[in-house]
Amino acid sequence: MEEYLLAARDLGLPEMGFADHLPLFHIEDPTLTMCQADLPLYIDGVLKLQEKYPDYPPRLGIEADYIVPHLDDVAAALARYEFDYVYGSVHFIGGWGIDQSRFKFEFERRDINEVYEIYFGLVMDAARTGLFDVMTHLDVVKKYGHRPTRDMKPLYNEVAATLAKSNVAIELNASGLSKPVGEIYPSLEILEIMQAHGVPITFGSDAHKPTQVGREFDRLLELARAAGYSDYVGFAGRRRVPQPLP
Ligand SMILES: [Fe+2]
Repeated sequence: MEEYLLAARDLGLPEMGFADHLPLFHIEDPTLTMCQADLPLYIDGVLKLQEKYPDYPPRLGIEADYIVPHLDDVAAALARYEFDYVYGSVHFIGGWGIDQSRFKFEFERRDINEVYEIYFGLVMDAARTGLFDVMTHLDVVKKYGHRPTRDMKPLYNEVAATLAKSNVAIELNASGLSKPVGEIYPSLEILEIMQAHGVPITFGSDAHKPTQVGREFDRLLELARAAGYSDYVGFAGRRRVPQPLP
C-alpha cells in the first residue's frame, strides 16, 4: 500500500485515496475481494499511512458491490469505519459476474440491449440507496465489446438524472483501455450526458499494482474537458471537495 501512495506522490497527484474491494457477502472469492477478516487490516493499513505521511495522507475509501440481498451487511460494514468516500459498483446481474472473463459466454446467450437495461437499472437502484458517493466504471457492461443496437440515450439520461438527484458522482477510469473494449469508462457519449445533468466526476486508477496509479490520467482529463467539465471532486469525510481541473 505504501508503494501505491509513493507512486501517487511521485506523479505529483494532488491527493490519493485507497478503494480496495469490500468483501462480498454472497460469495467468498479471494480473486475478487479481500475476505472478511482482512477488512480491519486494510483499514489499519490506510490509517497507519496517514500517520506516517502527514504531508500526503491517503484518503480512506472502499469499493462496495451493489448486491440486493446483502445491502444490510454492506450498510453495517460501511457504518463501522470513517470512510472518506464509498465507491458503489455493479459487477453482478443476479449471480452473473458480468466483468469476469470466465462468465463472458453469458453475453452470447443474452439480448445485449436487455443486458444494458438491466445493468443500468441496477446502477440507478444502487445510486438511490444512498450508500454510495460515487458509481465506479459506469459502463463496465461494455468491457468485452458487447454493444447495444438500440439508441441508449434515453436510458443514459435517466441514469444521469437519477445520479444527480441522489447526489452520486461518477468515476473516470482508464482500466477499460486495456480491456477488449479499449475505451475509458464511461464513454464520451455518456459523459456528455452526465455533464449536462450536473453529475460530478472524480478520477480512479483502478490500480491493482503500484505502477497503475494515475494510469492514463492525461487521457481522462482530455475526455473530461471534451465532455464540458471544468472541475472534479475529491472527498473527505464523505463530503465532496470540488477542485478545478488542472
Ligand atoms: Fe470494480
